[in-house]
Amino acid sequence: MKIAVIGAGYVGLVQGTCLAESGNDVVCVDKLASRVEMLKEGKVPIYEPGLAELIHRNMRDDRLEFTTDLGAGIADAEIVFIAVGTPQGDDGAADLSGVWQVGQEVARNLQSPKIIVIKSTVPVGTNAELARRMAQETKVAFDVASNPEFLKEGAALDDFTKPDRVVVGVRKPETAEKLHELYSPFLRTDRPFLVMTPESAEMTKYVANCLLAAKISFINEMANLCEAYGADVNDVRRGIGHDQRIGFHFLFPGVGYGGSCFPKDIRAVMAMARARGVPSRLMDAVDAVNESQKGVLFHKINQHFGGNLEGKTIAVWGLAFKPRTDDIREAPALVLVDSLLAAGARIRVHDPEANDNVRAIYGNCLVYCDRPYGALEQADALAVVTEWSEFRNPDFEVMRRLLSEPVIFDGRNVYDPARMAALGFVYHGIGRARVSAS
Ligand SMILES: NC(=O)c1ccc[n+]([C@@H]2O[C@H](COP(=O)([O-])OP(=O)(O)OC[C@H]3O[C@@H](n4cnc5c(N)ncnc54)[C@H](O)[C@@H]3O)[C@@H](O)[C@H]2O)c1
Repeated sequence: MKIAVIGAGYVGLVQGTCLAESGNDVVCVDKLASRVEMLKEGKVPIYEPGLAELIHRNMRDDRLEFTTDLGAGIADAEIVFIAVGTPQGDDGAADLSGVWQVGQEVARNLQSPKIIVIKSTVPVGTNAELARRMAQETKVAFDVASNPEFLKEGAALDDFTKPDRVVVGVRKPETAEKLHELYSPFLRTDRPFLVMTPESAEMTKYVANCLLAAKISFINEMANLCEAYGADVNDVRRGIGHDQRIGFHFLFPGVGYGGSCFPKDIRAVMAMARARGVPSRLMDAVDAVNESQKGVLFHKINQHFGGNLEGKTIAVWGLAFKPRTDDIREAPALVLVDSLLAAGARIRVHDPEANDNVRAIYGNCLVYCDRPYGALEQADALAVVTEWSEFRNPDFEVMRRLLSEPVIFDGRNVYDPARMAALGFVYHGIGRARVSAS
């Protein structure tokens, strides 16, 4: 099939590349000329494991192209996916200006009938409104469908090629059939292809993210309670997780959720509720718990140093909002960095992939280290903020030698408190009783 994908970001690049990999001819369109130039030269502007190799292979085999020219990009396409950003607007609601702009441009360039599919996460009613707006711009036949994306950054290729489910929201059965044909290579092992109305599909994406975010805020609140009463949230997790009604997924305490989806999607749902006068007490609380949780590590560090961080050097391991991505949008690490800077601390950071993105914001305010141990040199403490695998089993002897004080603030409960104490560290986790060096 001939496919166009508008928006070559985390979602659009994965979508376009995986569809090319399954034999389709794909054109990815982005308005950012610098991004398109990079891609044409075979450089991939984001880090997603395995993506660069797939892009190179499909470019070489002429199934994947990049352009800034939307008209040319969609000319031959049967299906046009819209995968532009829908960031949080000033009032908390999703800012749909990118979607409206692309819809208008697509309509004005429509030469033959096409299916327009919204991949971006959009409030309920957006598909219907896009169809209405496009109909004012063109007499050529088109259909608008919803196909929300559920991929996780860091595991996006696997999520796309082996989806838990594919959800499509359509008004016409033939549109569902066409999308089923397109996705069939990824559905071979009886993976569900769920057809519903666009409204239900739009809502499904938000409800999924709301529940996942709620689980994180829930366990974070319980972790803080564990800590106050000397219980260990890790033991509690084990105690509840074996209950099949509860399970283990998404119940890891930490420094709060970040990224380009949960924070803005939860606020978009709160805005949707406000707009219809429906209470959103639970989501209000999920958001509030998360905001305060992002400050927990700073609070612990500040307390440890008696409320005076002036001139202290703190090493930070992990800047990306989660491992296996370079995405720092709404990353809890940045909240910690801001608080530490405001308190007069010096900061040495290391992230396997996100250093450059952070440098683009903080410039010379931080010291960027290529290696994790480099960040520890003359540091008074280490804060672990993102649980990259390489932080899980480091050389603790080397770490103790390099740190001026053997203190670790573990924002992801990566290490075992008893082991850390035995190794001579002062260890502060999340939701665990404090253990001092023996
Ligand atoms: N990142 C994720 O993990 C993820 C997962 C599921 C759903 N989503 C949703 O998918 C959408 C895209 O997210 P993302 O993370 O890929 O965003 P992104 O910011 O990485 O990429 C968006 C791209 O769209 C381009 N763009 C914006 N306006 C354009 C226009 N008018 N014409 C052409 N290109 C344009 C931008 O230049 C950018 O390259 C959002 O709605 C997001 O909520 C994201």
